[in-house]
Amino acid sequence: MIRILANDGVHADAITLLEEAEYQVDTERVPQDKLASVLNRYDALIVRSATKVRQQEIDAAPNLKIIVRGGVGLDNIDVAYAESKGIKVINTPRSSSQAVAELVFAHMFSLARQLHLSNREMPTRGATEFKKLKDHYSDLGFQLRGRTLGVLGFGRIGQEVARIGLGLGMNVVPVDLVQRELKLEVELYKLQDAALSVTMRTVSMEEMLPQADFITIHIPFTGGKSILGKEQFERMKKGVVLINTSRGGAINEPELLEALDSGRVMAAGLDVFVDEPMPRADLLNHPRISVTPHIGASTVEAQGKIGLEIADILLEFFGTPG
Ligand code: 3PG
Repeated sequence: MIRILANDGVHADAITLLEEAEYQVDTERVPQDKLASVLNRYDALIVRSATKVRQQEIDAAPNLKIIVRGGVGLDNIDVAYAESKGIKVINTPRSSSQAVAELVFAHMFSLARQLHLSNREMPTRGATEFKKLKDHYSDLGFQLRGRTLGVLGFGRIGQEVARIGLGLGMNVVPVDLVQRELKLEVELYKLQDAALSVTMRTVSMEEMLPQADFITIHIPFTGGKSILGKEQFERMKKGVVLINTSRGGAINEPELLEALDSGRVMAAGLDVFVDEPMPRADLLNHPRISVTPHIGASTVEAQGKIGLEIADILLEFFGTPG
């Protein structure tokens, strides 16, 4: 029997499909410090970003043949070491782009209308100081339409972000390592044959930074020097809004706090943090940061698609009985 540990959980449909093929799927989370001691029981390991699979875990897993990362980032897995031991490592990069792109806009809309603060204040002050709050938030609100959105990284997620931005009437400026022209189909939902086709030209980071009102990062970040920090903030428009749904550290956290305090950066939307799962309190409490707990890929639709992709990968890899 094929034994699988889904240590960060997996969609119920994937479990059904795998169990129908007579695989055993364990979903009870094994804490990181105990993981190495159980891995010798498994042929396959399914993880999201929380479980780390480093040399220690791989050395303790003589029967492991495949690690499936349900999601995009492979930074929690020592891929080269696993492959050197003959273990296949595979991710599911296609299933969550829409979910991540929508979260980018959730943060942008929230910051543009101060929803993150008003949701904190309304329960305590909404009934007694409604008019005062209305006046306060009325002075701060702004629209997305007509604003310039810098999209840093123009892969699958960056392109989904661009589609939504174009649909909202934003001026989208994509950045890619290679400057190129790309035709984006923007489907108008419910009007299937009324897709817009937009040709976009990617530009350099230098060209984008001074133009953008919003900047969102969609470049894989695996540590080292931040993609955005003090040096880049100084080249941005004063009052820019930054969004990070990529990885903690892609924006330098201490330098972001300084830039928020000086007003160079107006606000930030953060889904990812350097110190996950215990982010710095000053980021979580900052009045000009909208925060979420790394939920970019966490929609019913995305996790459902990821689950099916995982089941397909494993069924193809191990085959079905009979
Ligand atoms: C990813 O890399 O796919 C995202 O960061 C989502 O990670 P998660 O599956 O741990 O939520």
